[in-house]
Amino acid sequence: MYKIVNKREIGHKVHSYEIYAPEIAKNARAGQFVIFRINDKGERVPLTIAQTKPKEGLVKIIFQEIGKSTFHLASLNEGDSIRDFVGPLGHPTEIKKYGTVVAVAGGVGAAEVLPVIKELKKVGNKIITIIGARCKDLIILEDELEQESDILLFVTNDGTSGIKGFVTDVLKNIVNKEQIDIVYAIGPVLMMKAVSEITKEKHIKTIVSLNPIMLDGTGMCGACRVTVRGVMKFACVDGPEFDAHGVHWEELHSRLELFKNFEKVSLDNFKNYKECRCHKK
Ligand SMILES: Cc1cc2nc3c(=O)[nH]c(=O)nc-3n(C[C@H](O)[C@H](O)[C@H](O)COP(=O)(O)OP(=O)(O)OC[C@H]3O[C@@H](n4cnc5c(N)ncnc54)[C@H](O)[C@@H]3O)c2cc1C
Ligand code: FES
Repeated sequence: MYKIVNKREIGHKVHSYEIYAPEIAKNARAGQFVIFRINDKGERVPLTIAQTKPKEGLVKIIFQEIGKSTFHLASLNEGDSIRDFVGPLGHPTEIKKYGTVVAVAGGVGAAEVLPVIKELKKVGNKIITIIGARCKDLIILEDELEQESDILLFVTNDGTSGIKGFVTDVLKNIVNKEQIDIVYAIGPVLMMKAVSEITKEKHIKTIVSLNPIMLDGTGMCGACRVTVRGVMKFACVDGPEFDAHGVHWEELHSRLELFKNFEKVSLDNFKNYKECRCHKK
């Protein structure tokens, strides 16, 4: 069993938990993830390792309440325990000095990009971070991102904070004006696909962290398969990071859509769900 040592709500329906898992805390590196299961009957859910504190044996996860398991996880309290917490899984991010890095994240992707930019900054890269959200209520980790970025830009679709528009509008401006050595993107599939299209045209190396449906996380079940440069890969063991310009985006998108149709999950079905303030009429 894995104990929840600290619990904080850091944004609208976004929670930060510190879990006591000393082996993972000791071994995890930026870009890796865990798969948790709340109890024997629970489904397996992948979450990025947002931070580790090896001395205290703590692993931080940051998650958005989006469906059954994340709602259940959010209902637990400090002192409660969860059944399984397996990791670190996946390959770590390749950390080296590239020069100028643009990191693009959408939604809760801000939590996933933070450990990556932190390591990239440590080795001397200039970090330009672009964080997108639907509205200001959904922006998280402002101070932490600021600390690890040379330039931090917020973009909201409705203009309630930062620049009004989409992360891709801002990215386009930057790549047209400045020499960029690598782009790192994490977030919704359609966002990562759009980023990839912009950087492909400019021949800028781009890494994306993919989020297909995962079950076992060991390369056995095939749920997370993605096609990269015509070759079938399993995101859990071969990824989750891949060269964006080789990803078969349409296939990834349609596999995720298929899952949504199967699940018929609607946030309205959850009686506790409330839209963020910016969307209240
Ligand atoms: C490697 C990896 C790292 C991730 N890291 C994080 C993280 O740090 N923080 C975080 O909040 N989320 C992260 N996710 C997404 C997270 O796993 C899903 O939000 C979660 O599985 C939803 O489970 P649920 O039972 O609450 O929702 P479900 O009831 O299973 O689904 C609710 C909705 O979420 C969508 N969904 C389900 N699984 C995924 C998925 N894997 N990716 C995107 N959408 C999904 C469904 O299509 C559905 O519309 C990550 C996913 C992967 C593959
Ligand atoms: S999650 Fe089963 S093969 Fe990747």
